Amino acid sequence: MKPTSEADPETPPAPPSAQGVFAHQLPVAEQYADLLAREATVRGLIGPREVPRLWERHLLNCAVITDLMPHGGTVCDIGSGAGLPGLTLAIRRPDLRVTLVEPLLRRTTFLDLATSTMGLTNVTVHRGRAEELHGEAVFDVVTSRAVAPMDRLTRWSMPLVAGGGLLLAMKGASAEQELESAAGSIRRLGGLDPAVVAVGEEWLSPPVTVVRVHKTDTTGQSRQSGGRPGVDR
Ligand SMILES: C[S@@+](CC[C@H](N)C(=O)[O-])C[C@H]1O[C@@H](n2cnc3c(N)ncnc32)[C@H](O)[C@@H]1O
Repeated sequence: MKPTSEADPETPPAPPSAQGVFAHQLPVAEQYADLLAREATVRGLIGPREVPRLWERHLLNCAVITDLMPHGGTVCDIGSGAGLPGLTLAIRRPDLRVTLVEPLLRRTTFLDLATSTMGLTNVTVHRGRAEELHGEAVFDVVTSRAVAPMDRLTRWSMPLVAGGGLLLAMKGASAEQELESAAGSIRRLGGLDPAVVAVGEEWLSPPVTVVRVHKTDTTGQSRQSGGRPGVDR
């Protein structure tokens, strides 16, 4: 067997729960795991110590949040980095149209490579900062993981959520506290019913903790018709 090294780590095999989470899309998820373990590690986008826990801590953790998303919706993942959670959402749910927003060229280069290698036709990679899209585009769901404290994240994310849509921020143990500190911004920006929700209990222990905020629908339009869905490069 080839020895594991930092430059060429072994891709860990998919655990049994991955079949449940990704179902017929598992081969694509395995391809993504391989891209993360090799290309993303070599490019310094994923630490080599993350490789053994790629499935549990990254792919599965991120993918299960699609359980909170409407069928056929548009999704904007801000600060995607190496594609987490954005690419896992597009893999698990081909019905979603996912825009990955990431300012750093080194990262968007990897995201372009990963998207084309996996043949994902429901992904758009947009190089830029989330704030630069305010007034340009809105989405049914805006996601993020490890991008900014909740208050700043709310200011970056809420203007991108269509009326009747959702903000979903993966926040872990600090979720309740962060939600409290962002309560003012959430209210000011049209946020409704902010809550900390657990997702993926069926597959993950512990489940994933997500901050979920609904956006007031002031237009009377349905979620699917709110604004321009997604952006081009
Ligand atoms: C710690 S990384 C997290 C990456 C990925 N979400 C993950 O969980 O692995 C934070 C990412 O947010 C991006 N970022 C920082 N400020 C941003 C902004 N204003 N708009 C969009 N992305 C931003 C950074 O370039 C970086 O890729």
